[in-house]
Amino acid sequence: MSSSTSPTVLLNTGVQMPILGLGTYKLVGPENVYQAVDAALAAGYRSFDSAAVYRNEADLGRALKELLPKHGLTREDVFITSKLGPKHQGQGSMEAALHSLSQLDLGYIDLYLIHWPGTQGLQVSDQRNPGNRAKSWASLEELHAQGKLKAIGVSNYKLTHMKELMQSCKIPPALLQVEFHPQLCQTELRSVCKEYGVCFQAYSSLGRGELLSHPVVLEVAKNCDRTPAQVLLRWAVQQGVPVLPKSSNPDRIQRNTELFDFSLSDADMDKLSALDCGLRYCWDPSDVA
Ligand SMILES: NC(=O)c1ccc[n+]([C@@H]2O[C@H](COP(=O)([O-])OP(=O)(O)OC[C@H]3O[C@@H](n4cnc5c(N)ncnc54)[C@H](OP(=O)(O)O)[C@@H]3O)[C@@H](O)[C@H]2O)c1
Repeated sequence: MSSSTSPTVLLNTGVQMPILGLGTYKLVGPENVYQAVDAALAAGYRSFDSAAVYRNEADLGRALKELLPKHGLTREDVFITSKLGPKHQGQGSMEAALHSLSQLDLGYIDLYLIHWPGTQGLQVSDQRNPGNRAKSWASLEELHAQGKLKAIGVSNYKLTHMKELMQSCKIPPALLQVEFHPQLCQTELRSVCKEYGVCFQAYSSLGRGELLSHPVVLEVAKNCDRTPAQVLLRWAVQQGVPVLPKSSNPDRIQRNTELFDFSLSDADMDKLSALDCGLRYCWDPSDVA
């Protein structure tokens, strides 16, 4: 994909979002962020996924302001996602979203997500969780109406959270970001998103690195002469699911873009999907009321 841009998916806001974005969890420190963003822009990434809890919004914003002109790009050429931390769910949501906007300092945020259905400091079963989620969503709707958040969405919502939101929202979510890879196929959640017109986006496509050495992934990679990471990412994008691989290594950042010049056979897709066993490498929202 070098020097070109990733294919896009159409969000229900009418905006195109790149299918490939750079994940930035654990990408911290101004130097590291700068180097990764530089390598990513050179490799053709036009989308970056941050969050208040990653503590890199300010460094990401600063790096982009410096690097966009170097790569002949402007603010409008990139798609920036950030997220409301669970600590600020509910009452503090408006202030926290404004803080994200000021940390990134890029004028607006392309996509802002409620990071987690629960509230930090409350038990997962606490019945105040739904009310806090609703308050957060109302803050996001207000900032969307003001043009500060171009699209709004949610992350780690399970089926019941999605249904609750669809019934109560004024503006429907543009996107749901969840863990998705061959061991966690999220079939029901995906089909509900399709029904609602909500874009379903994958995180931890590489199982945080753990899936890269799975024997079936290695076998498919060998068959098609690709890296295990390319196989896992291709498995998602071939199903129309946007991905956010994280890497801080310029070579891996580049190689993770090489997804659009090959396809996996139906047999290989099935072999990978057969690994589905509900396994998570990240946090599990199943019990959040
Ligand atoms: N909404 C949420 O709750 C949530 C949760 C988790 C993640 N996310 C988002 O999704 C992004 C991706 O998920 P993730 O960070 O959990 O994990 P991931 O992308 O599945 O895996 C990242 C790990 O794989 C390694 N890696 C990347 N490309 C590689 C390659 N080609 N060969 C070998 N190793 C490779 C990286 O190491 P190096 O850096 O050393 O290359 C890193 O250790 C996050 O960064 C974040 O933006 C969102």
